[in-house]
Amino acid sequence: MARRALVTGISGQDGAYLAKLLLDKGYEVFGGVRRSARSGQDRLSVLGIAESVRLVDFDLAEVGNIFRLVRTIRPDELYNLAAQSFVAASWEFPLATTDVNAVAVTRILEAIRLFSPETRFYQASTSEMFGQVRTVPQNEDTPFHPRSPYGVSKLYGHWMTVNYRESFGLHASSGILFNHESPLRGREFVTRKISLGLARVAEGLQDCIILGNLDAKRDWGFAGDYVEGMWRMLQREAPSDFVLASGETRSVRSFVETAAETAGFQIRWEGSATDEVGIDVGSGKTIVRVSSEFYRPAEVDLLLGDASKAARELDWRSTTSVEDIAAMMVQADLDDVKRFGDARV
Ligand SMILES: NC(=O)c1ccc[n+]([C@@H]2O[C@H](COP(=O)([O-])OP(=O)(O)OC[C@H]3O[C@@H](n4cnc5c(N)ncnc54)[C@H](OP(=O)(O)O)[C@@H]3O)[C@@H](O)[C@H]2O)c1
Repeated sequence: MARRALVTGISGQDGAYLAKLLLDKGYEVFGGVRRSARSGQDRLSVLGIAESVRLVDFDLAEVGNIFRLVRTIRPDELYNLAAQSFVAASWEFPLATTDVNAVAVTRILEAIRLFSPETRFYQASTSEMFGQVRTVPQNEDTPFHPRSPYGVSKLYGHWMTVNYRESFGLHASSGILFNHESPLRGREFVTRKISLGLARVAEGLQDCIILGNLDAKRDWGFAGDYVEGMWRMLQREAPSDFVLASGETRSVRSFVETAAETAGFQIRWEGSATDEVGIDVGSGKTIVRVSSEFYRPAEVDLLLGDASKAARELDWRSTTSVEDIAAMMVQADLDDVKRFGDARV
């Protein structure tokens, strides 16, 4: 019989890539989606798997719904990818973020403990838990100091995952993932804002892109590589926690420069702080501006991951360069904007 996986957050970036990977491996994939006016299938359609996933109504806020799903599906593997995942929004919605990112993890763990204790569990933790970093690079032993309600909420989910493993012997693993991007990344995230913005500028649909802190540095990988790491964590005999990262850090500024090349621009920077602008050398037009509106109230420091435990124990590595990721994202957005007038997701 095919193995069964339940993926929460299947309508998101990672959910779509993970569903594709699991289907390719022969799993029966159940995908949890929230009730909304949208179908939640856009990303699955782009990957050509919308018809292959069994969508089930799912909401992190509903304990009864979670209990019923786990009791009836009894999945071999449950990947909890659903979350309020946008850091900036977590300052505006700290309580809602806490409910879905923190408390809801306990709802799922309780469901597994009560109704399906053999289910292997993956929790989507994050490098944002390191926040004001104590050491560079960060690994599984680095102390946490989250700098946003998002980071704090995810830290609770991380520790509950560890706690249910230690208390009840659940096969529960936490993936501490550094940023990972793709053409399916949500439009509010900076890399996608850059790729889609530049594609629209190139097609004459907007004048410029407006960004926050150009010198914020992140460790960026490709989502398609990272979902393979999630799956590998659940194939191990013993559950554990793993950092997945590229091991390289780049500034937002550098990502803009790289992405601009694929869109046919070359950027020259002028000015400083919020007066800084990025000018396209060829046309002389200002195509990047900065606004304090997009600065975080508390910035995280130098996020740089050390994924050597994953390399050693999972034989996992991040294999896509940031140049390739930027080019892939801009190209996909250019193709969509030319064909459809806008990106499909
Ligand atoms: N991408 C990264 O760089 C990164 C790094 C570290 C950790 N993470 C974590 O990894 C996970 C996947 O990331 P992603 O980039 O794929 O995020 P994403 O694209 O924002 O997807 C989030 C998913 O969660 C769902 N969701 C939100 N609130 C929900 C609720 N109350 N009930 C049920 N579903 C809900 C969303 O559904 P709707 O479509 O209905 O909104 C969406 O499917 C998230 O937990 C994120 O925090 C991501």
